[in-house]
Amino acid sequence: MTPLLDDLDILLSRAPDDVQDVYERVANKYERFRALWVQLAGGTVEQTMLTDLREIIEPDYRVLDAGAGTGTLSRRIHAMEPAATLTLLDLSPAMLSHAVDVPGNRIEGSVLDLPFPDDSFDVVVSGWVIETVSDPIKAVSEYLRVITPTGYVLYTFCSLPSGWVSRAGTALLRAVVENRFAGQFLPPEETPWHDCDRSRRVRSHLGLTSYIALRKCCPVGPGILPAPMEEVPPSTFSDGMSR
Ligand SMILES: C[S@@+](CC[C@H](N)C(=O)[O-])C[C@H]1O[C@@H](n2cnc3c(N)ncnc32)[C@H](O)[C@@H]1O
Repeated sequence: MTPLLDDLDILLSRAPDDVQDVYERVANKYERFRALWVQLAGGTVEQTMLTDLREIIEPDYRVLDAGAGTGTLSRRIHAMEPAATLTLLDLSPAMLSHAVDVPGNRIEGSVLDLPFPDDSFDVVVSGWVIETVSDPIKAVSEYLRVITPTGYVLYTFCSLPSGWVSRAGTALLRAVVENRFAGQFLPPEETPWHDCDRSRRVRSHLGLTSYIALRKCCPVGPGILPAPMEEVPPSTFSDGMSR
C-alpha cells in the first residue's frame, strides 16, 4: 500500500475499543500523524511546554516521559540536556519499540498506577496522554506523587473549545482524534488542575490544545472556573519540530 492509502486505512477503518490496542495498531504510522497534529493544532502549546522545560532542566535531572509513545518528546529532551536521565513509560510495547534510539530506560506500564516510589523524578513530561486515559485526574495525581517536592509536572492535552463556533469549526479534527486515537477533548470541569500562583495554564488554537504546568504544592482536582488562563496565538511548525 502507498503511504497515503496506508494512512487512509487508519483514518477510515474502525478503531479498536481498547486504548492499548489502538496504539499497538497505529505505532508504525504514528509519527506521521503526530507531525500533522503538531502542524495543525498541537505545536504552539507543545513548544511552550518545551520552552518552559528548557528553563527548568539541569544536567542531573531525572525526567519521566509519561506515555512516551514513540519517544518524540524524549528525543527533544535528550537534545536539550544530554546529561539528564530519561525514563520512557508507555502502555504500548509497539509504540515504545520505536523509541529504542533514545538513551534512557524504557518501561511498559500505566500512568494510572506508576511503578515508581514517591519523589522519584525532578520533572514529569506528558504530551497528549491524559486525554486518552479513563481517569485524567488520577494520572496527574500519579505524576505529582512521583516528583520531588521541588519538582515539576508539565503536560499537553486536547481540550474542548468553549464557544459553539469554535466547537463547530473544529468538529472534524476532533472526530478524527477521538475515533482513531482515543483522545477525548477535555472540558474544563474534567481537566486536572490545581489553582495556585505556581501553576500555569495555557491554551491555543481556539481552545483545542492546552498545556498545564504544576508544582507539588497541592492535590489536583477537577478544573475550577474561572481559572487563570493564558491564550497563546497559533504558530506554524514544520515536521522537524516534532523530533
Ligand atoms: C497520543 S499518544 C502520545 C505519545 C507521546 N507522548 C507523544 O507526545 O507523541 C498517547 C500515548 O499514551 C499511551 N497511553 C495511553 N494510555 C496509557 C496509560 N494508561 N498508561 C501509559 N501510557 C498510556 C499510548 O500508548 C500512546 O503511546
